[in-house]
Amino acid sequence: MSDQTLGAGPKRIDGRLKVTGQATYTADHQLDNKAHAYGVFSTISRGRITGLALEVARNMPGVIEIFHHGNFPALHHTPSSMAGGNKVEETRLPFEDERIYYDGQFVALVVAERFDQARAAAQAVTVRYEEETPRANLEQGLTAHGTREGKGNHSRGNAKQAFESGTHRMEATYTTPVETHNPMEMHATLAHWPNGRLQVFESSQGVVQQKGAMAKIFNLAPHKVEVISTFIGSGFGSKLWMWPHAVAAAAASREIGRPVELVVPRSQMFTTTGHRPETKQTLKLATDEQGRLVALSHHSISTTSCTDQYVETCGSVTKSLYSCDNVSVDHRTTQVNRGTPTSMRAPGAAPGLFALESAVDEMALAAGIDPLTFRLDQFADRDESQDLPFSSNHIRETAERAAERFGWHQRNPKIKSMREGREIIGYGMAACNWEALKRPCDAHVALRADGTVYASCATQDIGTGTYTIVAQTLVELTGVPFERIEVELGDTSYPKGPISGGSWTTATTLPAIAEATRHAIMELKTRAVRSGGPFDGVDVASLNFENGVLSHNGKQMSFAEVLSSMKLANAEGDAHTEGADTSKYSYRSFGTHFVEVRWDPLLANLRVARVVSAIDVGRVMNEKTARNQVEGAIVMGLGMAMFEHTEYDPRTARVVNNNYAEYLVPVHADQPEIDVILLDYPDTTFNEFGARGIGEIGITGLAAAVANAVYHATGIRVRDLPITKERLM
Ligand code: MOS
Repeated sequence: MSDQTLGAGPKRIDGRLKVTGQATYTADHQLDNKAHAYGVFSTISRGRITGLALEVARNMPGVIEIFHHGNFPALHHTPSSMAGGNKVEETRLPFEDERIYYDGQFVALVVAERFDQARAAAQAVTVRYEEETPRANLEQGLTAHGTREGKGNHSRGNAKQAFESGTHRMEATYTTPVETHNPMEMHATLAHWPNGRLQVFESSQGVVQQKGAMAKIFNLAPHKVEVISTFIGSGFGSKLWMWPHAVAAAAASREIGRPVELVVPRSQMFTTTGHRPETKQTLKLATDEQGRLVALSHHSISTTSCTDQYVETCGSVTKSLYSCDNVSVDHRTTQVNRGTPTSMRAPGAAPGLFALESAVDEMALAAGIDPLTFRLDQFADRDESQDLPFSSNHIRETAERAAERFGWHQRNPKIKSMREGREIIGYGMAACNWEALKRPCDAHVALRADGTVYASCATQDIGTGTYTIVAQTLVELTGVPFERIEVELGDTSYPKGPISGGSWTTATTLPAIAEATRHAIMELKTRAVRSGGPFDGVDVASLNFENGVLSHNGKQMSFAEVLSSMKLANAEGDAHTEGADTSKYSYRSFGTHFVEVRWDPLLANLRVARVVSAIDVGRVMNEKTARNQVEGAIVMGLGMAMFEHTEYDPRTARVVNNNYAEYLVPVHADQPEIDVILLDYPDTTFNEFGARGIGEIGITGLAAAVANAVYHATGIRVRDLPITKERLM
């Protein structure tokens, strides 16, 4: 049993269902009379619809209805508040008017009997537009629109003055492109209206938020909406908030009186379900004679849509990673004709640390200091941006242990100096960092008369292992093994749980599950000591519960026996736990990446050969899934460093590479040797389990470590992602 408790590394309890095809994803659900919808998507990026030719499509086989701005039902806007439980990223409703704001916007929706019929008819719809000149990229946005104040700015001391008077200085501008989330499972909605209630199956990282948004948009009492997301084929942030397709499917279903399924095609996942925006970041650092940082400024501009203000907070980590008296962090946005951006794994920090940790490398070299030494000397010991102590911070140990394992000290600092055969070897490093968050959460647990334990919560398992760590928590608290544990997640009919995002699911959900379990055990004890109960008259406080067994003075009974003896089905517990108190501590996670690149100038081949990363995320709840998270984040970071780049035609603002063939992500042949060291220091000021969450931190800093290694190998400082080989030729 010990291999199932917290801290062990048991396999995912839903793993077998997934690899045997028994896990039911959104588009797998079979509802009677289900119709299929397919979008007609705009082929311009800015302008208005002047006409729709629908006749051909209407007469095609199986077509039931075609919706567009002329006949779509009037709906309502959601206030879009996360605290209110109804957030969306794109606030405009589909088919709201004839305006076009981005390439790939829904302009019509064809509903047909079969998927292929809907798609064929959608392709037969002709749309006439009046086109306006779009803003296709960040630079065009700056020219046409300028910038707007973002959020999350910070200033202490006087960075400008300190920079002027610094001994060693560096100033550089870094850019990162749009990156698109490409989870394996495409966005999908299956909506129907049984008895006037709206039930939606969605591939979602946040069923509670979608329920709230749906209730506002369709003007329904919240209890009339249910959103279900039992399994999802990942999301990386694109499935945190509901997108227009879900509204379109639900409205279409109500109009035609049948269930409607809508799967967003891969090409439209590049336009209408969010992306990581383009950024341009200017870093200015200065040190004194000894190489101590005296000034640090990080000013960034990111792109947002013409309908919503999404801010990529690139300087979020810059505020607190290094000790520095004079810091200036500023975020601005510029509007372009693209869909609304959204969170993508480690929003803000991923592009932000590419710039910051590249700049720190440049600064260390300019000051003549080894980049590892420079960092070890200057990592902050407290959060200077909030003037609070860190709850728990082992960043120096992550750097030292990973450096040791990697062999950093064998590095010859001279550029192009390390060779093996034709290849030039480069070593680079960077810090990684992510905030630790904990939100309010409800949960329900039952000890059942058949000897099983049940838990439910309306959070989701997005593939990361949430089902499994909830089960591990139950094993720990009740002694019941996995085989007799049932966990249900991903349905708004369960108690309210958090979005699967922000790396806060573990720290948020497990304390609520634990509290509900303790309440269930107390309920069991309270029942057992009542008159007629098996422990009649015993003081509750002296009744012991361990490994599923109640005992007192030598008398022992399993909870199943206790409940059965009283003809009770179960003993239940409900709980509500609060978010973290952030007034006394700054809660963050820490880590360091070391990267070896190999550059073959003859073949112009660049590859990452090795990554060693040490991560400090508080207690590791499941060794296997935690390691998977960091390894996966490193691979995604490698994609960010070398491959990922959503390209827009500068004349039309249309996405050029909207498919798996041309949007490059790392494949098996690109995988380096990855060695992850998980520090395991429980952070019990944060929550009773001491876990801070692990999903995002691994991607932060990785691209900088690659860029720094590339500089060491080639002498070329690449400040614009991705680092493609032509930049090195
Ligand atoms: Mo994460 S970007 O909060 O899914």
